[in-house]
This record gives sequence, structure tokens and C-alpha cells, in this order.
Amino acid sequence: MYDVQSIRNDFPILGSTVNNHPLVYFDNAATTQKPQAVIDAIVEAYSRTNSNIHRGIHTLSQISTTQYEQARKTVQTFINAPSDREIIFTKGVTESLNLVAQTFGEAFLHEGDEVIVSAMEHHSNLVPWQIVCARHKATLRFIPFNKAGVLDVEAYKNLFTEKTKFVSVVHISNTLGTVNPIQTLIDIAHSHNVPIMIDGAQSIQHCPIDVQKLDCDFFAFSGHKVYAPTGIGVLWGKEKWLEKLPPYQGGGDMIETVTLEKTTYNTLPFKFEAGTTNYVGAHALGVALRYIMNLGIENIQRHESELMAYATQKLQEIPQVTIIGNAPEKAGAISFEVAGAHPADLGMILDKQGIAIRTGTHCTEPIMQFYGVPGTARMSFGLYNTMEEIDYAARIIARVATMFE
Ligand code: ALA
Repeated sequence: MYDVQSIRNDFPILGSTVNNHPLVYFDNAATTQKPQAVIDAIVEAYSRTNSNIHRGIHTLSQISTTQYEQARKTVQTFINAPSDREIIFTKGVTESLNLVAQTFGEAFLHEGDEVIVSAMEHHSNLVPWQIVCARHKATLRFIPFNKAGVLDVEAYKNLFTEKTKFVSVVHISNTLGTVNPIQTLIDIAHSHNVPIMIDGAQSIQHCPIDVQKLDCDFFAFSGHKVYAPTGIGVLWGKEKWLEKLPPYQGGGDMIETVTLEKTTYNTLPFKFEAGTTNYVGAHALGVALRYIMNLGIENIQRHESELMAYATQKLQEIPQVTIIGNAPEKAGAISFEVAGAHPADLGMILDKQGIAIRTGTHCTEPIMQFYGVPGTARMSFGLYNTMEEIDYAARIIARVATMFE
């Protein structure tokens, strides 16, 4: 049984009030709230065990190192990676995506080469490729999507040429909620011998991820979207690719030997972890992932798809509301407009009632350009949201919609 009321008790912030109303937190695509176990892990680490990792023979350093490396193994289990050598801790999905764009570009992109991304990427999976393609005189090509927010797989097939070197695509759109057919996209890329990276920022918290089954080449996500702290993220990559990529940053821990003239690099995964990492954040990410494994990601997925279906229905019942993005398979987020209301005004009025939604372009300006809107309002769900919260928000949105008529 998925007991959402008891789960909510694990998240202290959910018991708080905002503007004298109980908090209704519908901004989970921006960041998720943290369970007490994660908060305790951070407090405990800084109160009792803090010490830099991989650098000391003293007890505290050993404890911190063990916690960090255990967290790596937890990530390995969570995404079913074949080896913990393939799990690289970064500061977030943005750094993970930039790491691959920069290092792959340096090693493999030449003038005239092509990289494919979708037209619905978050800026963090678009701008790094724009930068890298400009640097190496390569061309960026885009998988289009239709009005419903569904990628055009036939057009994708036609984008491949003998110049295509890499594909990078978002799993679940943070703006449209579209669940992209990544297995199909991966299989097509591989039929052309092209490696593919999946931006899992909005999928890791909503559905099971098995990188071996998917057989993608890279998978990236952030900790803070999956109930862990900010400042920690993951890049998983196939060892055969990670071995071929040059280091991303130079510094401590990523070296094997250094002379004034020359450096040899550490083995995986340390080759990509220069400097003191966010080892407390990594430990807390491990705790967050174990919390999710205890609840069962399939149970979370079932609960959240009920929330999505119910919220969609409640919004559709409000005549002034238009949902943007109507893909048959959606998860996590619903973007919408209210006739006559600027999304920011709507967001401010909801905030006065204790409801947190996100408004604006959601770091996906090309999606806004495609729909010809300045921005959208977005409700996004987490494992602790309830039908009652949706009822409450829908009532307020309906009332506001009448005001703006
Ligand atoms: N990318 C995050 C969002 O969609 C911040 O809100």
C-alpha cells in the first residue's frame, strides 16, 4: 500500500504554511523537497564525520570516503549500471551534460560533423552543444515535435547522415511532460553507430531507469530533483566511452602522477572528479535513492500517474484553461495557460493561497517560441502530492480564471 499521508510526514517542509495557508508544493520539476532522512544525513555528516575524502588515513576521512563510495554503489544499483567505475559525481545534470559535450567535442567533433538534439531540450542540453558545435565548426540538427508535444521519429530517422557523430535527447520534457520514446531513439542512433546521451533530469524521479536495458551510452541526472540536496549530480557513461574521453577539468584526485611538465590521469571514475567533490551531497544522494528504493519506484510511478491524470482532468474542466502539450504519454509536469491571465500573475495569486507552481519559460525558450506564448504556468508533481491538493489548486485556478475573463 502506498500511504501518501504517512510518506508526507517524512518531509518536514510539507507541514509548513505559506502566506497563512498550508503549503501545496507543485514545483517539483524545479526541485523536490527533502525527506528527514536526507536532512539528518547532512546534519550528521557535518556534525560528526566531516573530513575530505580519498586524502586522509585518519578515521574521519575513512568514514567520509566510505560513505562517498557507498553512495556511488547505490547510484549503480538505482540505475542498474554494470560498474561503479562508470558513475561520475558532478554538481548536477547541467555539469554532466556539459562534461560530455565538451570532452566528446574535443575528442571527436570536426568541421562538418553533425550532432542531433531535439527541439524540446532544456537549455542545458542545447546551449552546451551550440557552444561545442561552434567551436568545432560542426552543425547542430533538431528533432522536431508536433503541436501535441510529440517528437517526430520519422524526421529523426532522416536527420542521420554519415556526418552524424552524437545524439543527445531529453527523456521527459520539464515543460511539456512528454515522455519521449527513448528506447526507439537509442536503437535508431545505434543502427547508425552513433552514441546517444539521455538527459534524465525529469525521469530519474518518476520512472525506473535501467541503463543496461536501455543501452544508451550516457545518462545524466541531478540529485536535487530526486529528493537529494542541490550541488550533486551524476553522469553515467559506458566505460568504453569514458575511457576515450579526455579529462574535463584538471586538479586534485583526477591525477595519477604530476611533474611540472606532464600529468598522467587517474582511473575511472576519478579521472572526471577533479578537486574536492560534494562528498556530503553524494552521501545524501545515496540516502535519498535508498529512501526511494524503500518506497518502490514503480509505486511512486503509479501514484504520480494517477495525480497526472486527475490534474489533467480537473484543469480540462476549467473552460478558460488550455493545456500546452498533450502527448499520449506524460509524466511529472503539466503546462497550461489561463485565458487573459499572464502566467506570472496567476503564479502570484496562487502563491497567496499557499500554492507553489512555476511560471515562465522553464529554461526552454524554443518551446515557447514554437507555441507562440511568452511563458506557461506549470504544475509538477512529486511522490508526496495528493488528490486533495489538486482539488484545492483547481478550485483556486477556476476562481482566478473567472476574474481574468
Ligand atoms: N529545470 C528546472 C525546471 O524545469 C529548473 O524548473
